[in-house]
Amino acid sequence: MIRARITGTGSYVPDKVATNFDLEKFIDTSDEWIRTRTGIVERHLVVEGENTSDLATRAAQRALEMAGVAPTEIDLIIVGTITGDYPWPATACIVQSNLGAVNAGAYDVSAACSGFLYALAAGADRIAAGNARKVLVIGAEVLSRILDWSDRNTCVLFGDGAGAVVLEACEGDQGILSSHLYADGSQLELLYQPGFGTRITPSAEAIARGDHYLKMQGNEVFKVAVRSMAEVAKIALDANGMTTEDVNLFIPHQANIRILDATAKRIGLRDDQVYVNVDRFGNTSGATIPIALDEVNRAGRLKRGDILLLDAFGGGFTWASALVRW
Ligand code: UT7
Repeated sequence: MIRARITGTGSYVPDKVATNFDLEKFIDTSDEWIRTRTGIVERHLVVEGENTSDLATRAAQRALEMAGVAPTEIDLIIVGTITGDYPWPATACIVQSNLGAVNAGAYDVSAACSGFLYALAAGADRIAAGNARKVLVIGAEVLSRILDWSDRNTCVLFGDGAGAVVLEACEGDQGILSSHLYADGSQLELLYQPGFGTRITPSAEAIARGDHYLKMQGNEVFKVAVRSMAEVAKIALDANGMTTEDVNLFIPHQANIRILDATAKRIGLRDDQVYVNVDRFGNTSGATIPIALDEVNRAGRLKRGDILLLDAFGGGFTWASALVRW
C-alpha cells in the first residue's frame, strides 16, 4: 500500500511582532482581556511589501531543504489559504514560480482555518492513488490585511504566517493514516468575508460598510468549533481502531486556548498530549497546524511511530482531522 509520508516541515512568520500591549494603544482592549479570553500574548504581522506568497515560499523552501527534495522533483503544490495574493490566480502558482518547481501543478484550497488539512488530504490522496510521488502542502495567510483594525472583537485574534510539509510516497506503516473532511455552509455568515466576490462587488458603499473585512460572531463560532473538533477527532480515532491513549500529540487548529482546552477535555486528552502555541502567533487560520507541526518537529519532539492527531475548524463552516504515524 502506498501512503503519503511527511518527510520535511518548514514554517515562516514575519519578523514584526505586535503584543497585546501594542494593540492596547489604539483600540479599547487590554492585555488581560486578550490573555484570559484567548490565550494570545502576541502575533506576527507582515509589513508593507510582504505577501502571502512570500511567507508560503519561505516555509516551503525550509520544508524542501529538510526533506532533501529539489523543487523540480515536486509534482504538485497545494496552498490552503483564504488570503491569497490575488482573488485569482492561485497563490500556489506564485509559489510554483518562486520555487522554480517547473514540473508541478499548483492550486489553492479555500477552506479557511481547515485549509491546511483539506490540502493535506488532497495531496495525500493523490499520492495514495499513484498520481503523484512528491507533493508540497502549504498553509499560508496574511489575515492582517482583511481585518478591521478598529473592531476589537476580531482584530486582536489573528496573525500572519505560513507552514509547509513535503509529502512523499512511501510503502510501510508511516504516513497519513486517514483524513476526514466535513462542511456546513448553512451558517456561513457567522464567520466570513462578505466582499469582494461576485455577490458583493467593490463600490464606495461596500467599502464604507467594511464588506472587505473578516466578520465573525465569535461566541456562536466557539460552540460549534468545540463540538465539531471533538467529533471529527473521535471519527479519526475510531476509523483507525485507536483511542486517546494511542495519541502522542494532539495538534489542533490554534484559535483560542479555551477552544483547545474544551476540545481536548471533551475527547479525553491530557494536557501534556496537547500542543499549544496560540500565545505566540494568535490565529493564523490555515497556517496554524503546519507552523505547530514544524515547531515540534524541529524541537526534536517527534519519534518514529508517534501518532499525531491533527484537527481543525473554520469558516464555511469546515472542519477536518488527520491521523498521522510519524
Ligand atoms: O479560527 C476558527 C474560527 N474562530 C474561532 O474559533 C474563534 C471563536 N471564538 C472565540 O474565540 C471567542 O468567542 C472570542 C475570543 C472571539 C470572544 O470571547 P467570548 O468570551 O466569546 O466573548 P464575547 O464575544 O461574548 O464578548 C464578551 C465581552 C463583550 O462585552 P459585553 O457585551 O459583555 O460588555 C465584548 O464587547 O467582551 C467584549 N470584548 C472585548 N473586550 C476587550 C470583545 N472583544 C474584546 C476585546 N477587548 N478585544
